[in-house]
Amino acid sequence: MSTNTELLTQLWSSLPVPAVLLDAEERIADMNPAAEGFMNNSAKWLVGQPIWDRLAVDAPIEESLARAREHGTPLFVNDVDVGTGNRPPLVCNLQLAPVQNYPGWFIMLISPRELAGRMTQSHSVKSAAKSAIGMAEMLAHEIKNPLAGITGAAQLLSMNLTKDDLELTDLIVAETRRIVKLLEQVEQFGNLSAPERKPVNLHDVLDRARRSTQLGAGAHMKFIEDYDPSLPLAYGDPDQLLQVVLNLLKNAAEAADAKEGGTIRLHTFFEHSFRMRRPDGSTQKLPLQIEVIDDGPGLPEDIKGDVFDPFVSGRENGTGLGLALVSKIISDHDGWISVDSVPGRTVFRISLPRAPREIEENR
Ligand SMILES: Nc1ncnc2c1ncn2[C@@H]1O[C@H](COP(=O)(O)OP(=O)(O)OP(=O)(O)O)[C@@H](O)[C@H]1O
Ligand SMILES: [Mg+2]
Repeated sequence: MSTNTELLTQLWSSLPVPAVLLDAEERIADMNPAAEGFMNNSAKWLVGQPIWDRLAVDAPIEESLARAREHGTPLFVNDVDVGTGNRPPLVCNLQLAPVQNYPGWFIMLISPRELAGRMTQSHSVKSAAKSAIGMAEMLAHEIKNPLAGITGAAQLLSMNLTKDDLELTDLIVAETRRIVKLLEQVEQFGNLSAPERKPVNLHDVLDRARRSTQLGAGAHMKFIEDYDPSLPLAYGDPDQLLQVVLNLLKNAAEAADAKEGGTIRLHTFFEHSFRMRRPDGSTQKLPLQIEVIDDGPGLPEDIKGDVFDPFVSGRENGTGLGLALVSKIISDHDGWISVDSVPGRTVFRISLPRAPREIEENR
């Protein structure tokens, strides 16, 4: 019996989802550590308080809960904004289930949707990217040599041809060049070394990326800088982070109408409470936020869920490696990337750790 109770206590505190036990008066009877984190307050302080005083839920939940209580049935509320008073609301799914033998009591699980989505995303990206890239690298290596032969042969042939036939050999040369370029990108992906991390000013990175994009792929775009000037230094590899931002800006520019252009907003801010749980259970603080926001058409519906996977592209000439590379670099930085996209507003958000204080101070 005692082992059982101990196990239950352990289960309760290991549950990675915020869970709150509600009594028949909808007061907090108990909460697990994840819920303490979510509500940014300790159970000691919160137990006994009316739940709806502490949690602002943007849905008429009280009536449905009363009905669920009456019938002893569970209640699921999806996609509601849940706020705790001291930070912006998060979109969550709420699951409430009646507790057996405790009439009127409910256990409520709160699953922040964004975080849940982000978690699975990062892990699947890593393993999928690894296997697909490994295979592609090997192929790239094998295909490059014969391609050089094909180009050479086509060029030799073209010396004795009529104008009409020349078009064909030109086509061979142009297309093989395109494949070689693609293969080089694949190889570059495989060669990506571990980041050389040091304290980085993210605004410098953003400025460099913006300037270079304005000279090339993004000449038709308008840029808005919305920076938090007090943003602390990040801990990262400046060149790799530059590559990340360049890829995001290039995508936004390519998605925009080629004639009309569009607007890209670069937004930075500090979010103290943002952290990620590592697979080993420890947590990593990721307070530095960069958002690249564009007003283009948004991610194509059919690839929306897979854009971070390699070789997923919605563009005719895209290799689909840009975002896979971005995702790999960010995960090598122990960071996080997510996307939220509807037509007219696409937000890529990167969350990064700040530089350790002692390194920052020794600079
Ligand atoms: N800001 C955006 N707006 C709309 N669609 C986007 C945006 N960013 C990415 N996408 C979509 O996601 C796809 C994948 O992007 P990714 O950068 O991985 O590959 P790509 O741009 O197609 O090719 P590459 O970057 O290798 O040249 C794009 O083809 C595009 O359809
Ligand atoms: Mg791209």
